[in-house]
Parts: sequence; C-alpha cells; structure tokens
Amino acid sequence: MFIYVSGFNYPMPTKEKFKTYKNVFDEKTLRVLFKLESEGYFEELKSPISIGKESNVFTAIKKDGTYVVVKIYRINTADFKRMYKYIGCDPRFKGLSNQRRKVVFAWAQREYRNLLIANQAGARVPVPYAVMDNILVMELIGKNNEPAPRLKDKPPKNVKKFIKELINNLTIFYKSGFIHGDLSEFNILNYNDTPYIIDLSHGVKLDYSGMQELLDRDIKNLKKYFSKLGLDVDIENILKNLKR
Ligand SMILES: Nc1ncnc2c1ncn2[C@@H]1O[C@H](COP(=O)(O)OP(=O)(O)OP(=O)(O)O)[C@@H](O)[C@H]1O
Ligand SMILES: [Mg+2]
Repeated sequence: MFIYVSGFNYPMPTKEKFKTYKNVFDEKTLRVLFKLESEGYFEELKSPISIGKESNVFTAIKKDGTYVVVKIYRINTADFKRMYKYIGCDPRFKGLSNQRRKVVFAWAQREYRNLLIANQAGARVPVPYAVMDNILVMELIGKNNEPAPRLKDKPPKNVKKFIKELINNLTIFYKSGFIHGDLSEFNILNYNDTPYIIDLSHGVKLDYSGMQELLDRDIKNLKKYFSKLGLDVDIENILKNLKR
C-alpha cells in the first residue's frame, strides 16, 4: 500500500507561466505543476539543470526567494517498460499495473519514499518536500540557486574524508533497510567537499531478490571511480561492515 496523491481530480486551467513548457510536458503534467505551485511548493520554474533519460530537473523559486529542485518524470518519452521491469518486482509496489502513467508515478513515488527514509535516518540526501503524480519537489543541494556539482565534475580535495562520509551515508541507507541501486559519480554531489547522494529512484529494500547484484554494482562503481583518483580504498571490506 503506498500513499498516492493525485492531481487529476482537480481539473483547472494551467497558468500562463507554465505555458512555455507546453511543448515539453503533457497537459496533465502542466496541471500538476500548477497544483504544486498553488499549494506553495514553488512559485516558478527557473533554470533547467538537466535533461535525463526519464526526467527533466529544474531549479524553482519559492515566494520567500529560496530555491528548490523540481524533478519531472516525463510520461511520454520515459522507457516505462524498463522502469516496470525494475519496479514491478519491488514488494512495495506489488500489483502495480504496467500502464505507462502508473509506472512513471510509482517511480517518482519510490524516489520520494527512499529520500524520506534516508533523510529521517540522518543521511545526506535532499529533503523531499512533495510528490504528486510524476513530479517530485526537493531541497536544492547547493548555495542559493546554484546546484552543487556532481562528483564526476568535481573530485573531492580530501578524498579519504569524502569516502568515509560516503560510506557513512551508505551505512545509514542499509541500516534503514534499502540500498541505492544506481550509485556512481553521476549520482553523488560534491557540496563543499561533502557528499550528498541523489537520484534514489532505483533504491530497493534489502529483501528484494536482486538486491545483492545491485549493491555489488554500486560498490564496483565507487571502487572504479576512486581508483582513477589514485586511491585504492577497500570499499568492499568497509561495505561488509554494513551487515553487522
Ligand atoms: N536536489 C538536488 N540538488 C541539486 N542538484 C540536483 C538535485 N537533484 C538533481 N540535481 C541535478 O540534476 C541532475 C539530474 O538529476 P538525477 O540524477 O536525479 O536525474 P537523472 O539521472 O537525470 O535521472 P534519469 O536519468 O532517470 O532521468 C543531477 O546530476 C544533478 O546535477
Ligand atoms: Mg542521475
């Protein structure tokens, strides 16, 4: 059973300010944007940060002048068959139909829920503020309206300290009952030499049958990245301690 907040029961005109996105997003997505705006989660989308395989990520400004991040999973161009394959066997989404919209909503929902769990357990991840259908609103990791760079684009100065903090966060994930599942230097932000983990939509619970395979891949990716920086960190050994 998962909490599902639908924006579709509230047909309303999309405001002028979201009209610029009418060629990018479908009408229902624009309505959800408008609903989130009218509930005060943000005032206006500002700059696109990235266009990924499944989503568009923007900075958005709030009434009080502070910024948040809005991640919009695209309905029509998402590879929902691949998404369904991954999420369909997550026990939390048991019985999920393979309808395109439902799969994409579940994907956004899973990212929100993983962020919530990780954040409440004290891990460094963006604070999730809202999820509605295919749109997720969360804390902007960075200074004011400047998102922090990805680890890929900004290696840490103090690599040992960075790794230690990273492992600490992954331990919090594990102790909270899930693993990231898509971890790499692309999904870690380097904010003032401190790691923040993002993009938690692949995160699966420990009882998921393919969990170990994903965890091994996560570890391998980290090992590879840090060895390129000339550091042979025994991440595998450290991660064994996750299970203690
Ligand atoms: N909370 C955040 N704070 C700052 N920057 C963020 C935040 N969330 C995402 N970003 C930026 O947006 C980029 C894309 O976000 P994310 O990794 O969540 O999606 P994605 O990899 O594009 O997803 P997909 O490929 O599934 O569409 C990140 O690499 C990062 O630069
Ligand atoms: Mg990503």
